[in-house]
Amino acid sequence: MTNLNGGDNDAVLRGQAQILQYIYGVLDGLALRCCVELGIADIINHHRSPTTLAEIINGINSPSINVDGLERLMRFLVRRKIFEDNSTRIKDEEKENVYYSLNHCSKWLLRDAHMTLAPLIIMRTNPIIMTPAHLLSHSIKHGGSTFKMNHGEEFFDFCQLNSEFNKVFNEGMACTAKITTNAIMLSYKNEFDELKGSIVDVGGGIGVLVAEIVKAYPHLKGINFDLQHVISTAPTYDGVTHIAGDMFKAIPCAETIFMTVKL
Ligand SMILES: C[S@@+](CC[C@H](N)C(=O)[O-])C[C@H]1O[C@@H](n2cnc3c(N)ncnc32)[C@H](O)[C@@H]1O
Repeated sequence: MTNLNGGDNDAVLRGQAQILQYIYGVLDGLALRCCVELGIADIINHHRSPTTLAEIINGINSPSINVDGLERLMRFLVRRKIFEDNSTRIKDEEKENVYYSLNHCSKWLLRDAHMTLAPLIIMRTNPIIMTPAHLLSHSIKHGGSTFKMNHGEEFFDFCQLNSEFNKVFNEGMACTAKITTNAIMLSYKNEFDELKGSIVDVGGGIGVLVAEIVKAYPHLKGINFDLQHVISTAPTYDGVTHIAGDMFKAIPCAETIFMTVKL
């Protein structure tokens, strides 16, 4: 093979493999989205034992299912180690069925679970979020936000005007907030014990994080602070007051101020 980069051939091939991985990587996210939309992990989970393609088809409940497409999707996800293929482990002489089961990866794809990444997958792979990325080079050349160029509004203004996407975004944020809250509380257990009075989460979304903190430390009063269109969709939690406002103007008074930013 021609050594294009002047390095050793192995390094050149590894570089090529790395680029190919990035090119096709976008399909990984879209395959995960498809899997969440069809509820495949939930179907297998409800089945409570390794599940055949026919049983998955039954669970999807569509009169015009593309069996070949579904089989390819499952093969792809097994290759990506997102589902297990148990067919060799089940002694079934009569059928040549593949049996799919969940693993530690696919458990995060459950829609019907307390701890799940399914809402984040649905949010991050949403065309509203993905299409502005096509304007990245334009934005670097000429400046400006890709989101505004694409949608005519800045991100949080767009959320305010689009209740459906607002919900998708807030749920995507809330599912990771549940996960990070556990990690934060484990790392700062003593510090939370010592806090007094109230704690405000600034830009707290629908309030999952502060609700979990107050549940674990009931001596604290929780305040969840976010923009009006987010607060208006937030559920009620014991010990948490929701307050709407703009943090660049003022934030509620509290003994402890909490803020998390996820990139
Ligand atoms: C990246 S999200 C993080 C949400 C949450 N803290 C979490 O970790 O899941 C940023 C949050 O800040 C809120 N936000 C943006 N601008 C704000 C403003 N000016 N005042 C108050 N909240 C704002 C958004 O509505 C959104 O809920």
